[in-house]
Amino acid sequence: MHCSVASTTAPRLIRSLPSTPSISPTDSGYPLAQSEVDADGVRVFQLSVIAGSAEFLPGVATPTWGYTDGRYGASYLGPTLRAARGERVRVLIENRLSEITTVHWHGMHLPAHSDGGPHQPIAAGERWQPEWSIEQPAATLWYHPHPHGETEAQTTRGLTGLFYLDDGSNSELPRRYGIDDIPIILQDRSFDSRGRFLLRDRAVTGLLGDTILVNGTYNPHLPVTTRLVRLRLLNASTARIYHLAFADEHEFAVIATDCGFLPALRRTRRLLLSPAERAEVLVEVRPSERLVLRSVPWDLDMITPLTNGAGGNDHLDLLQLRTGPSPAPSGRVPEQLDTAPTVTLDRVVARRTFQLDGREINGQQMEMSRIDTVVGAGTTELWTIQNTHNQPHNLHIHGVAFQIVPDGATSADPGLGWKDTVLLAAGESVRLAVAFPPYRDPLTPYMYHCHLMWHEDEGMMAQFTVVDPDQVGTAPRTLDVDHDHLAAGHDHG
Ligand code: C2O
Ligand code: CU
Repeated sequence: MHCSVASTTAPRLIRSLPSTPSISPTDSGYPLAQSEVDADGVRVFQLSVIAGSAEFLPGVATPTWGYTDGRYGASYLGPTLRAARGERVRVLIENRLSEITTVHWHGMHLPAHSDGGPHQPIAAGERWQPEWSIEQPAATLWYHPHPHGETEAQTTRGLTGLFYLDDGSNSELPRRYGIDDIPIILQDRSFDSRGRFLLRDRAVTGLLGDTILVNGTYNPHLPVTTRLVRLRLLNASTARIYHLAFADEHEFAVIATDCGFLPALRRTRRLLLSPAERAEVLVEVRPSERLVLRSVPWDLDMITPLTNGAGGNDHLDLLQLRTGPSPAPSGRVPEQLDTAPTVTLDRVVARRTFQLDGREINGQQMEMSRIDTVVGAGTTELWTIQNTHNQPHNLHIHGVAFQIVPDGATSADPGLGWKDTVLLAAGESVRLAVAFPPYRDPLTPYMYHCHLMWHEDEGMMAQFTVVDPDQVGTAPRTLDVDHDHLAAGHDHG
């Protein structure tokens, strides 16, 4: 649209060097956030949004942004927040940047005013204290900025963290943080000659980096000390789509998708993960084994030059798993898992169709003052998403979990998991059974949008409110929005 598109034809190949830094959370200082339970039983976290610098490439200081809880000192990424179903949580956030940001809880089911989308700006120097109750199954969620038009730039500078939810289910799985249950945050970056992150020269999907960072570490390895290891994968890239595989075709088992566990584990050798998607996988290792997690070419029905430009033919080494000579036993591989029941179409109260094309949803770009869709609290709807564009997009819906309903089927396919973000190849359609939250607020919208962050910034986003089911027809469709107050104040493009 307004920005120029760079198309690289040569596939990039990135190899691990022989001596590489470890990404074990204990070695890299990538810890769980500290929290305190106050007198009212609320679990309270503190996060400051800060600017600083970090060394990714040896000897090169890169200016970065990050979240700190005061103890975790790095200014890139943020600590992992963790809470249990049934708990009430509050996060005291201070924006120490010199521009507006927001903190969005991606995948969280919570009232719209705590969601952290573009309607909850935190001005420079200001604080924000969202509070909510955890009322959803165990999942690997995450947090990132969402200021209108600035999400790609702020995320690229380093604003990303994880938020784990526990519910006591499936307790036979490996679950020792950083030991046999490892966060894996996948990002790609390019650097300019002074070591700064490049924020221009986009492919059709957005900014693509030639350097992979895993948990903020360039050229990483993970020391594995147990025979079974659980990797919680997050694609926190702004545009890159990963097609994950091990270099030797080692099999792994998918146990969870974005919003919770699968009903049964799925053994595979390949896993496609688009920006914002998560997956939890179990990997069995042998003594003294070296396993390289890679990204291999993907095909999303786009013409070859565009596929090449979007990284679809890249072979990327992401992470080397290094097992010691005598790995310890840990957890076991269950065949069945506990998860939320499958949605059937007889529960559906409304059907809607959304078309993705160019940078638009149903022919329109995001408008902060326009409510595009109004849904009933606690209801289930069937959303058909049609990607009529000649490029891939994905769709993320705030505040919900959904299941995918195959064409012609009358219930969701439980094996495809509980999701909040779904990838669509060029020309593809999917049907989603979307379970909406109980939180009513006719004046505060949630977002649904393409999670390729450049597309989102360019307006490939829309807004919905959740209201009393009998007020769906009469709820407001426009909002009074103070644009000056919401703008991050940066020109881009
Ligand atoms: Cu991960 Cu609207 O965001
Ligand atoms: Cu898109």
